[in-house]
Amino acid sequence: MKGNELLVYVNGKYYPKSEAKISVYDHGFLYGDGVFEGIRAYNGSVFKLKEHINRLYKSAKAIMLNISMTKDEMIGAIIETLKKNRLRDAYIRLVVSRGPGDLGLDPRKCSKPTIIIITDRIKLHDGSAKKEGLTAIISWVKRDPVDATTHEVKSLNYLNSILAKIEANNADVDEAICLNKEGFICEGVAENLFAVVDGVVITPPTSTGALRGITRNVVIRIAKKLGFEVAKKEITPADLFLADEIFFTGTAAEVVPVKEINKREIGDGRPGPITLKLMKEYHRLVLDPKEGTPIT
Ligand SMILES: Cc1ncc(COP(=O)(O)O)c(C=O)c1O
Repeated sequence: MKGNELLVYVNGKYYPKSEAKISVYDHGFLYGDGVFEGIRAYNGSVFKLKEHINRLYKSAKAIMLNISMTKDEMIGAIIETLKKNRLRDAYIRLVVSRGPGDLGLDPRKCSKPTIIIITDRIKLHDGSAKKEGLTAIISWVKRDPVDATTHEVKSLNYLNSILAKIEANNADVDEAICLNKEGFICEGVAENLFAVVDGVVITPPTSTGALRGITRNVVIRIAKKLGFEVAKKEITPADLFLADEIFFTGTAAEVVPVKEINKREIGDGRPGPITLKLMKEYHRLVLDPKEGTPIT
C-alpha cells in the first residue's frame, strides 16, 4: 500500500500519507491555532494559486504567525508536492500551524510553525448536486462577530462552521447557512453565498464576517463580464426565501445551486438560468492556464 500512497509535505520532507504526522503538542491540534487554504488544480494548472498564497500570508499576519518560508518557496513546495504525486487535477490543503509548544496556550512557547501540504482529491456533494441543487437550512449558529475570531481570517478554528454543519446533518439537508449577530446572511459553512433577485446578482459584504472568498471574487468578475448587475449588500432570511436563485461558491464546492432553504423552494426549485450561466463560465475559466500557475 505504502508504495502507492500519496506523499504529504511536512516541514520540508515528504512522507507517505499514513506516516505524515505532527506532534500532539502542536498548537494547531491543541488549540486550532493556525491558518490554512484549500486550493484546486485543474488540468495541470493551480487555479488562483497566488491569490490563495496571499490570503494565507494575510491570515497569518492577522494572528501574528510568522511563516518561515517566502511566498515563492511556498509556491515551489506546492508545485513540487503535486509533481511528486503526479497530480494534474487535485485539491490542495495547505496548513500552517503555530507548531509544537507546551500545554499552555501562549504562542510564544511555539518556536517553529508546522507547514503541511496535502495534495489529494475532494468530493463535497454527490454528482446530482450541481444538476439539481442543494437543500439547506439557516442555522441557529451565528458567525463570530468581526471583533472575535471572525471568518475574515481563514484560521484553523472551524467549530463555528462544524456546529452549523451538524445542524444541517440533523435536519437531513445538504448545507447550512450562517447568519451574523444582527440576523443578516453571512455565508455557508465553507462557501460564500449569492442570491439572484430580479436579474441582479447579490452577495453579502464580507465586512460582516464572511470570508473574502477567492471563488466569490472570480464569480463577481464573471457576472460583471456577462453583463449582470452585481450588488454587495445585506441579505435577510426572507430575501433568501423569496430570491429567484441562490447559489454557493467555494474552491471545493465550486459554483453550486441551492434549490431549497428551510423547506421553501427557491424559485421554481431548479437551478436558475443565471446560476447555470455562471457555473458554465466558471468551469471554463478554471481550465484557462492564464488564471493559474502551471505544475511544471
Ligand atoms: C468559511 C468559508 N467561507 C467561504 C469559503 C470560500 O472561499 P474560497 O472561494 O476562497 O474557497 C470558504 C472556503 O474554504 C470558507 O471556509
